Amino acid sequence: SFSPRVFSGIQPSGGLTLGNYLGAIRRFVDMQDSGIETLYCVVDMHAITVWQDPEALRRQTRELTAGYLAAGLDPARSILFNQSQVPAHAQLAWIFNCVARLGWMNRMTQFKDKAGKNAEKASLGLYAYPALMAADILVYHATHVPVGEDQKQHVELTRDIAAKFNHDFGTEFFPMTEPVIEGAATRVMSLRDGSKKMSKSDPSDASRINMTDDADAISSKIRKARTDPDALPSEIEGLEGRPEARNLLNIYAALADTTVAEVLAEVGGQQFSEFKPKLADLAVAKLAPISTEMARLMQDPAEIDAVLRAGSERANALAAPILKRTYEIVGM
Ligand code: ADP
Ligand code: NA
Repeated sequence: SFSPRVFSGIQPSGGLTLGNYLGAIRRFVDMQDSGIETLYCVVDMHAITVWQDPEALRRQTRELTAGYLAAGLDPARSILFNQSQVPAHAQLAWIFNCVARLGWMNRMTQFKDKAGKNAEKASLGLYAYPALMAADILVYHATHVPVGEDQKQHVELTRDIAAKFNHDFGTEFFPMTEPVIEGAATRVMSLRDGSKKMSKSDPSDASRINMTDDADAISSKIRKARTDPDALPSEIEGLEGRPEARNLLNIYAALADTTVAEVLAEVGGQQFSEFKPKLADLAVAKLAPISTEMARLMQDPAEIDAVLRAGSERANALAAPILKRTYEIVGM
């Protein structure tokens, strides 16, 4: 009985990567064009769970918004906004901090990855991050969340929080949100290490393609990507145990909007020396226009700020009545 509504967000904690583009933003654009109401957020409150230089955070917030716009998100068809400009996220997050259990948080693998060996030094915010993410989603009664595979566990936790809230207060107030994890590139891996996710926070720039990379940088990173010495197979089964080959084919298929099976039908039998230039050409053709448009948009920061302000007003209007009703249910 909840009308379909899409929410997702990306942290302005560094430049956008090809992983963010294929795993998230491309899906955001697809869903914008599906006719369902869509909200896409710059989640700056998540970004500060690890240290962010204030000037860098301001710049990255604008750059991420420019990335959204350059990739095809349209403020007339999607609500594009900034998390910290909609206080209801933080207000609902506090209630969810009181609903979620410590044991649930202790199972979150992203916290373990990000906190590393010295978890005692991690911020309390990094630990509570999944409860804030649940609030981001549920403060709009969002039913669908397009994300990469690494966020699946957090969306499941969102459902656990909604279910416990509904149960504890004897209500059906919050929906059971579905993650939408689709396409050939739901987990883009590092170009230097096939066992690691491509990430904006990886210290090695050669490990990732940045959305701001120019044609030369994109080509050179793909040419230097780690691979094995074998030729490409003509069937998917031949990619078993070859994570680097699998990753490059996933990227190719996602950029070409096709499947890995179809790509292999064409390139099976080729060496990487032949395949990589094709992948580089495709990546440049798809990504260079976006990075050019991002650079153009970044010349007018006031315009970007105005897009976020207008979107945040619309988001506030949707969130305020849901927060108000939540307070009433809780007895506040
Ligand atoms: P990052 O992991 O680069 O810091 P975020 O945590 O802000 O980025 O994630 C934003 C969105 O991008 C999420 O939906 C996430 O699942 C997706 N994403 C991030 N990295 C990848 C990747 N390597 N492959 C696919 N999707 C990704
Ligand atoms: Na992530």
